[in-house]
Amino acid sequence: MKIVRVAIAGFGGVGRATATLLLNRRPRYRQVHDADIRLVAVCGSRAGLADPDGLEAGRLEALEPGLTGPAFIEASGADILIEAGPSDFRTGGPGLAYLRSALSAGRDTIVISKGALVHSGPDLRDLARSSGAMLKLSGAAAAALPTIDLLEHSLRGCEVLEIEGILNATTNYLLDAMMNQNLGFDEALARAQAGGFAEADPRNDTEGWDTASKLILIANFGLDADLTMDDLVVEGIQSVTEQCIAAWRKQRLVPKLVGSLVRTDGATRAAVGVRTYPMTDPFAHVSGKNKAIRITTDAMGETIAIGSGTEPLATAAAALKDLEHILTARAARAGHGSGGEA
Ligand code: HSE
Repeated sequence: MKIVRVAIAGFGGVGRATATLLLNRRPRYRQVHDADIRLVAVCGSRAGLADPDGLEAGRLEALEPGLTGPAFIEASGADILIEAGPSDFRTGGPGLAYLRSALSAGRDTIVISKGALVHSGPDLRDLARSSGAMLKLSGAAAAALPTIDLLEHSLRGCEVLEIEGILNATTNYLLDAMMNQNLGFDEALARAQAGGFAEADPRNDTEGWDTASKLILIANFGLDADLTMDDLVVEGIQSVTEQCIAAWRKQRLVPKLVGSLVRTDGATRAAVGVRTYPMTDPFAHVSGKNKAIRITTDAMGETIAIGSGTEPLATAAAALKDLEHILTARAARAGHGSGGEA
């Protein structure tokens, strides 16, 4: 049985949930992938822990100050890095240094935080290609809702003409609550924060930045585009008034904050803003904190996926789906397949 060493950088709620799920799934990895997965290092911004034999769940509560940073991960001997730190698309956040270090060393990398990927996506993509490292980002690109996987696997070979996505749970929840529960913006937002899915700074949700970030990741990593935030017109839901809500109700239209992308002659145009849908459109029925994506291709027409999950488990599961894709690809590379690509 092969030993595969995993490190997690970024040890807040999602990083911890990922560690717990990974340790719980070790029997599955042995059985399905013939792999002894060891969690050899974890670290937050100030403290961490490493053990080449693998950390057990009980030890993850006592991190040691100073054990952190890209050099600490490097020294842990990890084969695979999971990056789950705080996300900042304006600077790249702490994740940028971890990703550059791991990818330039050829280490397969699973990214959960969006910041570094939005800030420097094409550079990181090129770095991975030149070093041969696999770079996976399901946890960053709408997590429980499959997005890049649909493009890479389900629609492979088709030409993507258009993508529309309800990619942000918070704004979908807010619009739904304002339309159907008569809640005001502030009260609905307080409920989204209590539910744990609104961002720490909820303007990232309400002003459309989180939707724009996910759309950029889908475009750059699913379609090989080179979009930056400057290429997008981004409008949020902050200017939705009671009058707008009343008018939409009267017209039986359902508002959604949508990231959209159109491809013509190799050029990609993308935007974020409110669109309204008649009740005959499946997007009108994406309620609460659900998310959805509609992909239109030349040969397969329209494909729609709708989904959500309870956080942080759903995001952890999306990242560990990536881990299984990496294990499968590694086995294929080594010439002894472990069941084929999903
Ligand atoms: N705040 C985000 C949302 C979750 O509401 O979808 C993290 O991307």
